[in-house]
Amino acid sequence: MAQIGKDIFYAKRLLEDGQLVAIPTETVYGLAANALDAEAVTRIFIAKNRPTFDPLIVHVADRLQAGAHTGAMPAAAAKLAEAFWPGPLTLVLPRSRHIPELVTSGLDTVGIRCPNHPLTLELLRSLAFPLAAPSANPFGYVSPTRPEHVNAQLGDRVRYILDGGPCQVGIESTIVGFEGDDAVIYRRGGLSQEAIEQIVGPVKTHLHSSSNPLTPGQLESHYAPHKPVKLGHIDDLLARANSDRVAILSFSKDYKRPHQFVLSPSGSLEEAAQNLFFAMRQLDNSPVDYILAEEVPNEGLGMAINDRLRRASTR
Ligand code: TXA
Ligand code: MG
Repeated sequence: MAQIGKDIFYAKRLLEDGQLVAIPTETVYGLAANALDAEAVTRIFIAKNRPTFDPLIVHVADRLQAGAHTGAMPAAAAKLAEAFWPGPLTLVLPRSRHIPELVTSGLDTVGIRCPNHPLTLELLRSLAFPLAAPSANPFGYVSPTRPEHVNAQLGDRVRYILDGGPCQVGIESTIVGFEGDDAVIYRRGGLSQEAIEQIVGPVKTHLHSSSNPLTPGQLESHYAPHKPVKLGHIDDLLARANSDRVAILSFSKDYKRPHQFVLSPSGSLEEAAQNLFFAMRQLDNSPVDYILAEEVPNEGLGMAINDRLRRASTR
């Protein structure tokens, strides 16, 4: 098992030595390595069992550092960075030459973000290089939102987990690319489309485009628990269930069942996002045959939550 602690200097030493460290962010925990060291980055792909055609996000301390690793930013990107960094927003920008091809899967763009977590920001400021970090889960499984989640799945493949407590946002960053100066959402996440549109006006979405086969964050079956997930109206699903061994994942209604998780009793989408992956893990580990789930209101963070619920229910 990995060691879990708050020792930034130890984390820094390991990273400088080309090793992996799990880091907290406001979205989910990441599995980090020196983004400028191809050998260190290779360790990420091996530990996660991740195909190398799936590019990594590069994490930086601030906008200045982002500028050092990217080409010219479209005006819309600069506005979004100014408005939302540090925060749950990844910008896909022209890549600068010194970022290894492995990080970007050979693309001429790089996904870059400044995460909003005090420990990780301090770590990033203390390092002479940015950190490549995918979510710290085996490829295809639910992202970790607590240090114990990382330890349970990758504990034998990472030496140290920097303990930043439970993630405040709970779902991955929103990924935004650009067509000229127009922002395009590639992956829904912890920053809502409405918030983005307040800064740059109406945006397009390219969530499933076959012109974008290089971004498996968009694969149908991703973020999936091991147990089958059935998505629909819970009362209907319950009426049709041919087993008592079912768990229920509801938005705000309490079904008073032994194996259930209410994402937000008060009906808050922020709270639901915060609890989503924790809930999926907990129900996945309960003694049931499958999980019955319902969509949440499709607005704000609800769109990103529903996106993950739909993918979890696709096999
Ligand atoms: O919140 C997050 O984004 C977390 C934390 C750790 O920062 N990271 C994360 O990384 O979710 P990961 O590896 O699970 O998802 C990265 C996704 C890729 O699957 C791909 O869809 C997209 O980011 N991506 C990265 N670089 C890209 C690029 N150059 N062009 C298009 N998409 C890119
Ligand atoms: Mg991931």
